Amino acid sequence: MDAEIVFWPSGRSVRVRRGTTVLDASRRAGLSIKTRCGGKAACFMCKVIVKPGSDLLPMGDEERRKLAGMEEKNIRLSCQVRVAGKTDVELLPDPLQSAVAKALARQKEQDDALW
Ligand code: FES
Repeated sequence: MDAEIVFWPSGRSVRVRRGTTVLDASRRAGLSIKTRCGGKAACFMCKVIVKPGSDLLPMGDEERRKLAGMEEKNIRLSCQVRVAGKTDVELLPDPLQSAVAKALARQKEQDDALW
């Protein structure tokens, strides 16, 4: 059976085989989730939010240990979470891009205050 994953905020979707990781599905959809460990549940960079109601395979012990309660906020490691059916995934903003955007906004506020 196939699974359909919709990635938010873009709304881009892809059909994959049941058991595919969200990370692999994102690559098939042409989206980029940053990783450093190559999908070994070690770097923590591939976090996503899986929306409630999504059809997933049971969480593995390794991911449960790594997340240590964050799964209650629907945060999952995209390299570990495997889809079973219709799944909605929210991609988190890149932390570096977010930091740069905040710094630029702060600088603009300071510049605007001077003029
Ligand atoms: S890719 Fe490193 S924890 Fe998922």
